[in-house]
Amino acid sequence: MEGAISNPPNTRIAVVTGGNKGIGLEVCRQLAGNDVTVVLTARDETRGTAAVEKLRELGLSNIIFHQLEITDATSIARLADFLKTRFGKLDILVNNAALGGIEYVRDPVYGSAREEELSGMDMDQRLGWLWENCRETYETAKEGLRTNYYGTKHVVEALLPLLQASTDGRIVNVSSHFGQLRLFRNEELKQELNDIDNLTEERLDELLDMFLKDFKAGTVESRGWPMAFSAYKVAKAAMNAYSRILARRHSELRINCAHPGYVKTHMTINSGLLTPEEGGSRVVAVALLPEGAATGAFFEDFKESSFV
Ligand SMILES: NC(=O)c1ccc[n+]([C@@H]2O[C@H](COP(=O)([O-])OP(=O)(O)OC[C@H]3O[C@@H](n4cnc5c(N)ncnc54)[C@H](OP(=O)(O)O)[C@@H]3O)[C@@H](O)[C@H]2O)c1
Repeated sequence: MEGAISNPPNTRIAVVTGGNKGIGLEVCRQLAGNDVTVVLTARDETRGTAAVEKLRELGLSNIIFHQLEITDATSIARLADFLKTRFGKLDILVNNAALGGIEYVRDPVYGSAREEELSGMDMDQRLGWLWENCRETYETAKEGLRTNYYGTKHVVEALLPLLQASTDGRIVNVSSHFGQLRLFRNEELKQELNDIDNLTEERLDELLDMFLKDFKAGTVESRGWPMAFSAYKVAKAAMNAYSRILARRHSELRINCAHPGYVKTHMTINSGLLTPEEGGSRVVAVALLPEGAATGAFFEDFKESSFV
């Protein structure tokens, strides 16, 4: 599958993580529909190649598969080598892969919410329903940070030289309104995470360690961390802060965060308000911003918004 397409000169190359389903799959479909050559990555080879087949059946031939488990350094290095040899550059990196940082009481596939169960519920009521169907443990919180923050960061670090080899390299980190700093009730923490002039990656590591310690000690609430899906919220806030730090350091790239909206996917047990197509289009719009557009910004609903 890797060798199956030819690549005309001047074609943009994109990598999408977690491209086998949900929002990631839609991002692949829409980018490919915009004449971008897409490397659809997935941690599971069978699920990834099936997703590429599905898109090819829709008439999209400019999509190839490459395995990528974002928590595995060897897997990341293999993807970087492949991109270097095959294309010598990368134009767009969409960091979409993530976990909910929770375990599901309902199976997210077979126990999916039926629309009649949720009809008439607004977003907060649906999120309340979702929370009732989830459980957050120390292990799921730790895995959430390891995947959503550190996994994403390690992919960025490995692919950065290839993005710099592009004339218009872009990173879109798929974020969430759950990563916005208003959800932190500890003012000092909120200020520190928003103080991009002074915040460092080392301090972000310390803050994430502190969060896990507090989680273990049962002091998440009293220490003012976000409540409910707390690891997910903390990981997305850390990823947002990292994106802002990187955007300052690499003014030659566009590095932005995009909230796709509340989307019906496995992550939300299908409880969202938007379809994956609608959610994906909010991410693709940021990936395809005009040259010279914003960097270091947070986007929601197709508009620049606030990290706070
Ligand atoms: N759905 C929403 O309402 C919503 C709202 C805000 C933000 N988001 C963000 O949107 C993005 C996509 O979420 P989604 O709703 O589409 O979720 P999803 O349907 O659960 O898909 C998540 C994707 O990430 C992959 N993934 C998870 N861990 C991975 C790892 N370690 N290495 C590689 N791939 C991994 C999954 O692969 P497998 O299939 O192998 O598990 C899957 O392809 C996430 O960043 C999420 O935080 C979603």
